[in-house]
Amino acid sequence: MSDPAERSKVLEELIKNRRSIRNFSTESPMPSQIEKIILAGLNAPFAAAAVGDRKDFRRFFIIKKDSAARKELERIAAAHLKTTVKKLTSLPFKLMGLTRKLSKLIERLNNAKLPEAPFIIIIIEYNGIPSVAPQALAHAAENMWLMASAEGLGFQLLSMFEGMKKNKDLCRLLEIRSGEYSILACAIGVPKELPGPVKRIDPETITKWL
Ligand SMILES: Cc1cc2nc3c(=O)[nH]c(=O)nc-3n(C[C@H](O)[C@H](O)[C@H](O)COP(=O)(O)O)c2cc1C
Repeated sequence: MSDPAERSKVLEELIKNRRSIRNFSTESPMPSQIEKIILAGLNAPFAAAAVGDRKDFRRFFIIKKDSAARKELERIAAAHLKTTVKKLTSLPFKLMGLTRKLSKLIERLNNAKLPEAPFIIIIIEYNGIPSVAPQALAHAAENMWLMASAEGLGFQLLSMFEGMKKNKDLCRLLEIRSGEYSILACAIGVPKELPGPVKRIDPETITKWL
């Protein structure tokens, strides 16, 4: 596709139609589609000055439904959520009024579990200096999200994993050193339904040309 107007139109449509998908069908995406999504994530920007000569600054773990790794991940995620809720409802948090303030979040965490998706993908980024790995991971995730949308697949960010870079059990499962990498995870599968684009605020009302 060499015409810039055509390219721009395709990208505009993809961006407009990218949505969070939280319900997946039992159908599984093809391995070639997952490979395309991984490549899109790999091709996202990375902080070259921070990671130095490392070639494996970004790595991907594809966790299939019904695998032993998936069962272990469910156990690790449930334990992490339990610990987080325990902390948020502990006496110091109560005394600071934070438990009440965060009651909606606590309720969400109490009911949270990994989605019934055919694939959970964990992406890790080497924490260089300065540590900008979470930002780099967000770029990777957006590329993957757009490629998943282009493939007609659903994508859900799983932000609970962002606070797990020092989780010993997760690091053991991924065979990485605790704290060496930042972590991001997402669920990918065939969407039960496609929600379509949402109308956002008129950009003119939130943009200022100086
Ligand atoms: C940093 C970040 C973390 C997010 N974490 C989650 C998450 O844990 N679970 C989830 O279902 N969606 C998560 N989302 C998705 C947002 O809720 C979603 O993008 C937003 O509601 C807009 O909806 P859309 O993606 O359909 O356009 C996250 C988004 C961002 C940017």
